[in-house]
Amino acid sequence: MSRSGARSSARDLERYAKLFASRTSVMTSSAMRDLMAITERPEVISLAGGLPDTSTFPPELFAKVTAQMAAKVTAKALQYAPTEGMAATKDVIAEVMAAEGTVGIDPEDVLVTTGGQQVIDLVCKTLVDPGDVIIAEAPTYPGAVPSFSAYQADVVQIELDADGMRVDLLEETLDRLEAEGRRPKFIYTIPNFHNPGGVTMSLPRRQRLVSIARERELLVLEDNPYGLLRFEGEPLPTLRSLDGGDFVIYLGTFSKILAPGLRIGWAVAPRPVLQKMNVGKQGADLNSSSMTQLFAAEYFSIPGQWRAYLDSLCDLYRGRRDVMLEALAEHFPPEATWSRPHGGLFLWVTLPDYIDTTDLLARALQENVAFVPGRAAFLDGRGASSMRLNFSMVGDADIREGVRRIGEVIREQVEFYGTLTGTHRAVPPAAPEVPAVDPGLADVLPLPRRDDAAGGRGSNSA
Ligand SMILES: Cc1ncc(COP(=O)(O)O)c(C=O)c1O
Repeated sequence: MSRSGARSSARDLERYAKLFASRTSVMTSSAMRDLMAITERPEVISLAGGLPDTSTFPPELFAKVTAQMAAKVTAKALQYAPTEGMAATKDVIAEVMAAEGTVGIDPEDVLVTTGGQQVIDLVCKTLVDPGDVIIAEAPTYPGAVPSFSAYQADVVQIELDADGMRVDLLEETLDRLEAEGRRPKFIYTIPNFHNPGGVTMSLPRRQRLVSIARERELLVLEDNPYGLLRFEGEPLPTLRSLDGGDFVIYLGTFSKILAPGLRIGWAVAPRPVLQKMNVGKQGADLNSSSMTQLFAAEYFSIPGQWRAYLDSLCDLYRGRRDVMLEALAEHFPPEATWSRPHGGLFLWVTLPDYIDTTDLLARALQENVAFVPGRAAFLDGRGASSMRLNFSMVGDADIREGVRRIGEVIREQVEFYGTLTGTHRAVPPAAPEVPAVDPGLADVLPLPRRDDAAGGRGSNSA
């Protein structure tokens, strides 16, 4: 490592390279983490993050919860804790899960983790040998990619549509893998307000997925950070509640309903799996922070508090989602389509296939705006023409301005392509048409966007 510690020089790398484990050669960094350094620059409007807006958490409430915790449990908060988690925290977790319809969770079946992210890592650590198959969605959570790659998994991605994972394609894939003598170690899914897809798995798909898991005795990792962040529509049962706990490993987290700074998540898993994950966690960090586990326990014990805060977050994010949808209709060219999420933090945009969003990002950063390029959500090179946009973290004016700037750089590319191919359209365009619905992610504006945009919100030029 160079003395400045900032970057490794070629010579540094050479010096250490022989020591690296072979798995490091296939380990990939999360694109979002890489982007965070750039997007922290104050002049950049970042629609790239996956951050909840923690500025909404009242400082007086933070002080109150901390003071109560100090008065009651200072010594405990400063002490090590059991690897499986503290009893008070597990009780709160059972309460939160019940609020989403997963009732009767036995705290013995819970492992408190350092964020939901650690669940993904521990599940891989427990189940995956190099070359083993993991089934994931296409796109999948970009933050899972470093875990999948660190354990050298062979990730097979199944397409999403407006109703979540295409379970028909899943079955075909499982048949094919079976014929090859390969049995996936688990099926990874984000059923609610998918990150990054923005879609939600329908009830029939959930039922079918759970039946497939039971029939074939396959494990499912249900990653559910966003289920309670629903802006509209009726909640759907979790896979864990449909399955009853034989084949579903459930991942929960306080990151999006309270605060990611706590770094508290959890797994609910069949006992034999949970025990192995517990041992894996002992090697990783002994236990998750006692202080933040107790903070969470204290916070959730205030009557009505967590629900009220959650409701306020849903109101805020619903408004920001709507601003983003309006801005997209106004500033993105007709060639673009996007998902219309009913909750969560993200929407997914698909552009014409001649646009590569990794290249586009470089251009967007010159305009001080950022997004996550779609390729970050694939392990097989797909997703080049897509992007993830976050609407939870920035205010309305910045959402509008950020989308406007991205719209501009997309337009440049569309124009450029038009010039190259001789299909260039004059600016401004002819009367805009209702855009085609993205066949892949078609919880996509069923609405006539152009009519929306006609209401004084500007026209689209392409
Ligand atoms: C789908 C998904 N899973 C897991 C996580 C990890 O969350 P945390 O470790 O903050 O609980 C995230 C965070 O954005 C996520 O979007």
